[in-house]
Amino acid sequence: MDQALLSKTAAAMVAKGKGILAADESSGTCEARFKSIGVECTEESRRAYRGLLFTTPGAEQFISGVILYDETMRQKTSDGVPFADYLAKKGILPGIKVDTGAKSLALCPGEKVSEGLDGLRERLAAYFKLGARFAKWRAVITIGEAIPTHTCLYANAHALARYAALCQEASIVPIIEPEVLLDGEHAIERCEEVTEATLRATYAALAAHNVSCEHTILKASMVVSGKGCARQAGVDEVAGRTVRVLKRTVPAAQPGVVFLSGGQSDVAATAHLNAMAAMKGLPWPLTFSYSRALQNPALGTWKGQSANVGAAQRAFHHRAHMNSLAAQGRWKAELEKQAA
Ligand code: 13P
Repeated sequence: MDQALLSKTAAAMVAKGKGILAADESSGTCEARFKSIGVECTEESRRAYRGLLFTTPGAEQFISGVILYDETMRQKTSDGVPFADYLAKKGILPGIKVDTGAKSLALCPGEKVSEGLDGLRERLAAYFKLGARFAKWRAVITIGEAIPTHTCLYANAHALARYAALCQEASIVPIIEPEVLLDGEHAIERCEEVTEATLRATYAALAAHNVSCEHTILKASMVVSGKGCARQAGVDEVAGRTVRVLKRTVPAAQPGVVFLSGGQSDVAATAHLNAMAAMKGLPWPLTFSYSRALQNPALGTWKGQSANVGAAQRAFHHRAHMNSLAAQGRWKAELEKQAA
């Protein structure tokens, strides 16, 4: 375990004005996204699309790291350079998703636990050789009538902690991602309560497994109203409740907190981040680690056509720029009109 490398990586991931591009969608998720724009999902179309994002001129000003999927880690740019090497040369850290997906949790109807611990030590060693300097593991917590259960929170926290310990052993910074889904009709108060319980369970497990907070990054979901709830909380309420929960549960020793977008609109994800980052006296830097909220406009512009690559890259550049400003509390809604 190289502590100096872990510290350097974690600091670089949350460097001022930069955030992370999540491009680690599984081939199944990619299939659904490509279907929405009428593009056939093949190994080559996934490579072409990821290449479009990674080779966007100037993206390195706003993007500190990219989370790759196993297939993408082994793919190359059109010029034959492995993506991980290409990104590293640009000053962008390559990362890798290592959980193998959220599966039904036995005897807990409606709940999931993420798998992927078996053989993880060997996989991490191989990914390090391929250039990965950080990893991601996503746990999924669903809000429903009698869920999440204690069983679900602790099963997921335990898996996250074992994953994080293995990552640190391999000198790879673990992104700890316990995502509380925004699906459901619940009020924002319920989301706040569940998010707090989730983070408490997660940090208890990390401590029990000797994981050093100094060498982890939290990827948090924001505290928002359930998607189907009649009352949708505004930007200031989302920001206030999210930061309150984080302050209650996340050690100040954590080098940074990044957020997922979780199905929020592109601009809402930016506005929420901006409102939180503008708050004074936070113990950690806050930034983005979005997939959909960074990629949606680029995907819709690309439509699988090489003639659209330049315009799609401009759309991606714009969202990355807006979120970079938001991570510094310097974003304004008027800036959205200057889109390319
Ligand atoms: P979204 O920003 O689309 O939620 O994706 C982030 C992510 O990496 C989920 O695991």
